[in-house]
Amino acid sequence: MILVTGGAGFIGSNFVLDWLAAGDEPVLNLDALTYAGNLRNLESLTGDPRHVFVRGDIGDRALLDSLLARHRPRAIVHFAAESHVDRSIHGPAEFMRTNVQGTFTLLEASRAHWATLPSGEREAFRFHHVSTDEVYGSLAPGAPAFTESHAYEPNSPYSASKAASDHLVRAWHHTYGLPVVTTNCSNNYGPYHFPEKLIPLMIVNALAGKPLPVYGDGQQIRDWLYVSDHCSGIRAVLAGGQLGETYNIGGWNEQANIDIVRSICTLLDELRPDPAGPYERLITHVADRPGHDRRYAIDARKIERELGWRPAETFQSGIRKTVQWYLDHADWVAEVQSGGYRDWVEQNYARRSPNAPR
Ligand code: NAD
Ligand code: TYD
Repeated sequence: MILVTGGAGFIGSNFVLDWLAAGDEPVLNLDALTYAGNLRNLESLTGDPRHVFVRGDIGDRALLDSLLARHRPRAIVHFAAESHVDRSIHGPAEFMRTNVQGTFTLLEASRAHWATLPSGEREAFRFHHVSTDEVYGSLAPGAPAFTESHAYEPNSPYSASKAASDHLVRAWHHTYGLPVVTTNCSNNYGPYHFPEKLIPLMIVNALAGKPLPVYGDGQQIRDWLYVSDHCSGIRAVLAGGQLGETYNIGGWNEQANIDIVRSICTLLDELRPDPAGPYERLITHVADRPGHDRRYAIDARKIERELGWRPAETFQSGIRKTVQWYLDHADWVAEVQSGGYRDWVEQNYARRSPNAPR
């Protein structure tokens, strides 16, 4: 079996669902169920013996030791993290605890487990670290996209914590020989995306007739990838990636935030027209994010050259599926918009007094 950490979050739950749809190898899913973890994402696996869920923290060494000894996974795919840049600005401590200290604890437990394996299993073992393109910092307009050899220049507490974890993973390979691979992926979107992030927030706000808060001038660029393409990229690297190597995963799809928001509005105008008028009327420019990275873009040629991976979805097909998923899952949205969610929205947006559109 494989151990997945953070498998009740956005990408982790998509990964677990896709993994079990593609094969029969069981998954041990370790997740602390923070505000971002949601077992409803996995409810289609209820009663499925291939999925074993354990609620627990990656920083709990005793729990990790007992799970590894009992289940003897052949690989660990490490998603668990605090993942939202704005939250890292408000409260960085949890990012250091989970992303840095938690990854350290998981590496140490993995190393101890790996050392006990018989030689064939030792060689086959993999620690797959799931990371982000944000570790590379911000690109100037027209600068070449991030390759795997781009310098690390993290700018937010989130990206600094992920960069730190990437360095730990690298060091555990070079010093102890732990068989690791790392993937650095661009912004994902798709089903089960928590509506604190740009795309799901815009969809759920539009449907509720609420303002669509665009930070600053909305010209910041991200390279969007449909989540199941990220999952297939991880499977490809887990199966065939070179030990100690990193692979960038991206969608070849750079877009300014304001254009993403307009695309969502246009799709909603078609799929769920609002009698009050086009959804674009709700776009509101608000105060920018401190230290806001201007542009990310991934050069995904290495994973294509070495492993034959390319995204299957275009942005047009992926965003249509995503908007439709949110229209079809109003109950999921209502459930995640709990008291804690409302507190966050209040905290993050109350201070951003609306600017005139620029
Ligand atoms: P998410 O916030 O939706 O989910 C994180 C999951 O980790 C949640 O289920 C949460 O309960 C769990 N978790 C948090 N702290 C934990 C702890 N201490 N112990 C155990 N579980 C814990 O995040 P996501 O968007 O699914 O991102 C998953 C991974 O992918 C992260 O490592 C993130 O850095 C990386 N990544 C995300 C994106 C993106 O666009 N979302 C892009 C590239 C890389
Ligand atoms: P986000 O989804 O938080 O991902 P990240 O910051 O990790 O790239 O944000 C994507 C972009 O959208 C980013 O440039 C910030 C911007 N943004 C807004 O303009 N308004 C919002 O309400 C949010 C949440 C994000």
